[in-house]
Amino acid sequence: MRHLIDIMDFSAAEIDELIATATDIVAHPEKYREKCRYKKLATLFFEPSTRTRLSFEAAMMELGGQVLGFSEASSSSAAKGESVADTAAIVSGYADIIAMRHPKEGAPLVAASKSDVPIINAGDGGHFHPTQTLTDLFTIHLEKGSFENLTVGLCGDLKFGRTVHSLIAALSRYTGIRFVLISPEELKVPSYVKNTYIKEKGIPYKQTTSLDEAMPELDVLYMTRVQRERFFNEEDYLRLRDSYILTPEKMEKAKKDMIVLHPLPRVNEISTEVDKDPRAAYFRQAKNGKFIRMALILKLLEVD
Ligand code: NCD
Repeated sequence: MRHLIDIMDFSAAEIDELIATATDIVAHPEKYREKCRYKKLATLFFEPSTRTRLSFEAAMMELGGQVLGFSEASSSSAAKGESVADTAAIVSGYADIIAMRHPKEGAPLVAASKSDVPIINAGDGGHFHPTQTLTDLFTIHLEKGSFENLTVGLCGDLKFGRTVHSLIAALSRYTGIRFVLISPEELKVPSYVKNTYIKEKGIPYKQTTSLDEAMPELDVLYMTRVQRERFFNEEDYLRLRDSYILTPEKMEKAKKDMIVLHPLPRVNEISTEVDKDPRAAYFRQAKNGKFIRMALILKLLEVD
């Protein structure tokens, strides 16, 4: 039995297979309509979510399966003090696969140790978010055709942004990748991510506080929200939240074929005027998330 806790649990070849399946699902959805008949997905969300939870649920429904779960900790027995390990042990008796989001780093890993069914990490605190990375990779593949020789700018809250950590890890396996890390001093990429996936792998990178300066060289710009819920005090958040705002003027400095990604939700960091720019790929990205999650469910349930 396999779980998906960290994107590095999958080899690059396995990610290629998932992308191939997702591409086939988009082309021939009818082939997949009964694949998970009589299977159940449980979504255990101890933190807010729109895209991740609903795209997981839509994915299971489109595979002919069913869904159950909760969308806030207060409506689960966590509110009575039940441990994540116990919750996982119980729910694994009711469902065939579990997607879990939790504010504590490592909670899905603990759940996996007690579960009889595959556990998917749907975001653990400020740590990792591997299924967002599958969505990001599928989108880059569709929009750019390959992962090689790309200069990828990551901008905003690189410290608490879990999607950034998983994406850096995943991209570090491809040839010719360069990173431009754009953030305020206080929101730089944590050293465990930078050391393991950038420095030790000898990947070329640049760290800057200036989005304007970075703009012309980027093939992909990955914008992120400043993660208010992970700050220790509101003043710091208020001071840092508008550090970067992507506007049509800034987009003028970018390559004609650059793409803008964002895991969403956005707050202020991308002006809505950018939405009509064909390079704004974030709504297409959100849509892609359902198809790659369908492919992931099939893989973990070992359905042909
Ligand atoms: C992200 C998350 O939850 O980490 N959202 C998502 O899953 N698409 C990004 C964010 O909340 O900023």
